Amino acid sequence: MTIRPLSSEETLPYDLLLLADPSVKMVGKYIFASSVYVAVFAEQIVGILVLFPIDKNLIEIKNIAVLETHQGKGIGKKLLAFAFSEAKEKGFQDIQIGTANSSIGQLALYQKMGFEMDSILKSFFIYNYPEPMYENEILVRDMVVLKKALGLR
Ligand code: COA
Repeated sequence: MTIRPLSSEETLPYDLLLLADPSVKMVGKYIFASSVYVAVFAEQIVGILVLFPIDKNLIEIKNIAVLETHQGKGIGKKLLAFAFSEAKEKGFQDIQIGTANSSIGQLALYQKMGFEMDSILKSFFIYNYPEPMYENEILVRDMVVLKKALGLR
């Protein structure tokens, strides 16, 4: 499995982007100002990572997804580790990621990878998405923002 930048000639893999963020409109708000990387396995794009600089010190993982057929095999962890080294190399001090209150597996994964809960954007998903969404039988309501120091200080 290799991770490489998506070239500007390649089509954006919306199948993957929409796994992490079900709104084309919301993806459109960040995708063109972001760096996009893909995980490739057996010549197939199986994962995506989208990095968006917030300011000179802080970068955000705006989207991370792995094809359902390839989940649970460590690709997500490799994409996160790649994000850390890429962000560090570019001189960012901190990296953040937002996920839903209902995203139990993602909250576990991000904390295993060293992220700590930082803030909560109350009712973010209620305000920004047209229909109520449920995950793990929980209403998708709040955005939990997690941060990790990249160790440059
Ligand atoms: N409790 C504890 N740990 C859990 C868990 C739970 N409920 N659910 C998942 N995990 C852990 C796994 O145990 C594993 O850790 P381990 O290797 O220590 O066992 C880890 O999370 C998953 O690691 P990995 O296999 O590298 O992840 P992945 O390749 O499946 O990718 C996602 C993770 C989130 C990118 C992938 O599941 C995905 O694309 N989901 C849909 C899109 C999405 O939700 N994106 C994120 C939006 S914020």
